[in-house]
Amino acid sequence: FYQKQRGVYRNIPPGPRPWPVVGNFGGLLLPPFIRRRFGQTSDPNTGVMEALTAQAKVYGNIYSLFVGSQLLVVLNGYEAVKDALSNHPEVFSDRPDVPAISILTKRKGIVFAPYGPVWRKQRRFCHATLRNFGLGRLSLEPCIQQGVASLNAELLRLNAERGATGVDPSQLISNAVSNVICSLILGRRFHHEDPEFRTILDLMSRGLEICVNSPAVLINVFPAFYYLPFGVFRELRQVERDMTVFLKRIIADHSESLDPDNPRDLTDMYLMETLAQQAAGEEGSSFTEDYLFYIIGDLFIAGTDTTTNSVLWVLLYMVLYPDTQEQVQAEIDRVVGRRRLPSLTDRGSLPFTEATIMEVQRLTAVVPLSIPHMASETTEFRGYTIPKGTVIMPNLYSVHRDPSVWDDPGAFKPARFLDHEGKLLRREFFIPFGVGRRVCMGEQLAKMELFLTVTGLLQAFSFRLPDGKPAPSLQGRFGLTLAPCPFAVCVSARTQEGVS
Ligand code: HEM
Repeated sequence: FYQKQRGVYRNIPPGPRPWPVVGNFGGLLLPPFIRRRFGQTSDPNTGVMEALTAQAKVYGNIYSLFVGSQLLVVLNGYEAVKDALSNHPEVFSDRPDVPAISILTKRKGIVFAPYGPVWRKQRRFCHATLRNFGLGRLSLEPCIQQGVASLNAELLRLNAERGATGVDPSQLISNAVSNVICSLILGRRFHHEDPEFRTILDLMSRGLEICVNSPAVLINVFPAFYYLPFGVFRELRQVERDMTVFLKRIIADHSESLDPDNPRDLTDMYLMETLAQQAAGEEGSSFTEDYLFYIIGDLFIAGTDTTTNSVLWVLLYMVLYPDTQEQVQAEIDRVVGRRRLPSLTDRGSLPFTEATIMEVQRLTAVVPLSIPHMASETTEFRGYTIPKGTVIMPNLYSVHRDPSVWDDPGAFKPARFLDHEGKLLRREFFIPFGVGRRVCMGEQLAKMELFLTVTGLLQAFSFRLPDGKPAPSLQGRFGLTLAPCPFAVCVSARTQEGVS
């Protein structure tokens, strides 16, 4: 097959020889015991990124792979990623049509929408609206702080209950982060045991689990499998139906109680824009309740796992690097004290804390392979031909480990983000949110959440591993995002006075 395609693929970037039919990812589809039998012993999780990064040493920073018959070009290192996404945005900002995702999203919303005028208008509106939640009357800061206060109380309670075995913080942090998205979209926070809240979180995590970690991935090869009347295929359709009922009800409730003088959240603002465009007689406007449905889904998916895992990684590094934890706490004590919760106005005065968060984000790259892009036309790029329809995979993990731009890239050194006076340095090679036109739309919100949650936790507690427990691995689990493997922490309260 690849031989036959030689004409089209004559000058594509070099790469390893694909397996017949399945391409280069054939090995990954085999069960682990068979892979081990053939000597593939690397960690199946972060092993993927390490393997992809290692291939660049053999084939160069731009190389080709095949998934089945689909050509995929992996971009490694800062220069290649930045050159493609920032200097050639018109060609490399599209998204591929991945069958499982397209069936679920109908290619609407923002994350998987094709590059073009509809995506541009929707993104511009949502991005501008998100900025309103950073500042002003609708600021999410109090909501995040409230979440941190509940998180701290719950952590303390569970820590007392569990004693020496420690607490797995993942669910608590996921609750706090999900509540921020609920405030953004639903205009309200939930108690973590609220049945409605649990329904949203369960539907999302089940849906993601099925899409990423089950035979449902076969839908990408055989789209008709989506309709199979059994197993995970049927379950996926059920999750989709439940999610649809849930989101449609949210939109209908908002629509009924909308007060244009008092928008409560992003959903209200979107509905107002929809009405405004209708009133202005905009023919064929993409602002519709139907489109809003997909935007809400996108924000839930894009804004929860990413931020939750980023906070979890910071906690894990803090227990593994107690000296850094103490330095961060000393800075928080000096600038904020222990009587009030840290706020966004403290950000500029906590450079070591910011540097620590950034260093963890650099090493962990929570969205290590970004979200796939696609070449929208055949183009010449750095001496190679990239055919129209090629999937482009920006390897952000490799950018953050690129030895040509980072000194000792594998080491944890927050000070690399500080100048000799201890002021924060902006490093252009630090791109956990991607670069170019598709750069993360929630970057500002995510940074706000990370800062307020991490400082709120470290102000209140010292974290350590339960006695006698081996240090958790820093390898992580790679699904849609890179999550740390489950770990437990023991906490001791630092705050005597009640922080409010
Ligand atoms: C896209 C990272 C949090 C919304 C992305 C991309 C990355 C990323 C790498 C892909 C960029 C590309 O395609 O080139 C992260 C990280 C986060 C985070 C590391 C947390 C630490 C959030 C939050 C939201 C959000 C909180 C929204 C509430 C989006 C959206 C896109 C996106 C809508 C798609 C943009 C587009 O296709 O135009 N993010 N993200 N993200 N992110 Fe985030």
